[in-house]
Amino acid sequence: MINLKAFKLMDQDDPLKLFRNHFFHQKNEIYLDGNSLGKMPKNIPEILGETINNQWGKQLISSWNKDWLKLPNRLSGKYGKLLNASAEEIVFGESTTVRLYQVLISLIQSGNYLDNLITDNLNFPTDLYVIDGLKTQFPKLKINNIEYHNEIEADIDLLKESIKKKPGIICLSLVTYKSCYYYPMKVLNQYAVKHKSIIVWDISHGVGSVPIDFKESETKIAVGCTYKYMNGGPGSPSFLYIESGLHSLLENPIQGWFGHKNPFDFNPQYKSAEKLDHFKNGTPPILSMQAVESGIDLTLKAGILNIRDKSIKQSEMIIMAIKDHLNSFGYNLQSPKKFLRRGSHIAISHPNAWQICQALQKGGKNIPKIITDFRPPNFIRLGITPLYTRFEDLWWVINQLENIVESESYLRFNQVKPEVT
Ligand SMILES: Cc1ncc(COP(=O)(O)O)c(C=O)c1O
Repeated sequence: MINLKAFKLMDQDDPLKLFRNHFFHQKNEIYLDGNSLGKMPKNIPEILGETINNQWGKQLISSWNKDWLKLPNRLSGKYGKLLNASAEEIVFGESTTVRLYQVLISLIQSGNYLDNLITDNLNFPTDLYVIDGLKTQFPKLKINNIEYHNEIEADIDLLKESIKKKPGIICLSLVTYKSCYYYPMKVLNQYAVKHKSIIVWDISHGVGSVPIDFKESETKIAVGCTYKYMNGGPGSPSFLYIESGLHSLLENPIQGWFGHKNPFDFNPQYKSAEKLDHFKNGTPPILSMQAVESGIDLTLKAGILNIRDKSIKQSEMIIMAIKDHLNSFGYNLQSPKKFLRRGSHIAISHPNAWQICQALQKGGKNIPKIITDFRPPNFIRLGITPLYTRFEDLWWVINQLENIVESESYLRFNQVKPEVT
């Protein structure tokens, strides 16, 4: 049995340990959700309270000029720092799904790429649905959904071969939602350009968990959400990055008033705004946008390289425990073995995964509740968010995974799943 004391000592030596104090925690609960929704920074009630009570409640319409119109660009500047982009290359607003649809249509309509759209079986379902839905709108579009015959790793040779044979637009999740596979971003971007193609990266599971440098990796386009490792809250707005060289070549298929050069002239003729501002659509969702800033501030302060460092350390410890203890209890690693090809969660499988997730969540006498998440058919995702995940948390989950199977306590739980897992 591994030693709790040793894990607690690692917490004491953790250079990021104080960041945990900036988040709201429940007593006797360990949050290893992986990562559908990040924790709430402690100052959110105060920030939203000010927005609701003062800005909306009292200042009303004058808040647009005083505070709200500046907010989206301020966020773009801060995300630009994290991702090495200029503020003019990032716009906030909409869900990732809408942004993906918008930018894919823009690329298809630009006429700069052949009518091929490549994706793969590791991509997140919403990306696959959006791509599939484009078939009716663009009947000439040939969609190639590469099947790697496994759910863990992409076959990069096969992916490259597909790009070479059918160049055009490619859509991939930088870090995959199920296994946490992390694509070699720069190699693929360069390969795509060599073959007159472009990759649209969905970085939802990557932003805040792995270092991303848009310039160094020669990334052209990316979309991503802010509610996972960036802790922006439920339904927080997504972002779209388009490299400045492409701004004048891509039109926004949604000609909304916030993308107009002078929206408050109320001119009946549309005249597109400059830089990436023309990818703004309608009124920004101020309430949810206000909650995004704390997460980015904490991430910038901690430093993404320190976050990555701790994430690798913690992930490797779970993997070692799977090999040394958990394999014999029916658990198997379903994430890439090499840390270079992994983001910041570990997926494990077990034939009774859903019942085990419920048993973890139930906790017990002197045992904390442990929140993980389940993904079909039988995956448990253990999310590592170095800003608040303690080494002690890992000790608990490893031991509980073992105890629950050994004692067969999971048999008390229902096999039927609720809507959100
Ligand atoms: C990789 C990825 N892309 C997109 C989404 C969905 O994004 P949204 O709900 O903002 O449309 C998710 C949600 O978990 C995701 O994991």
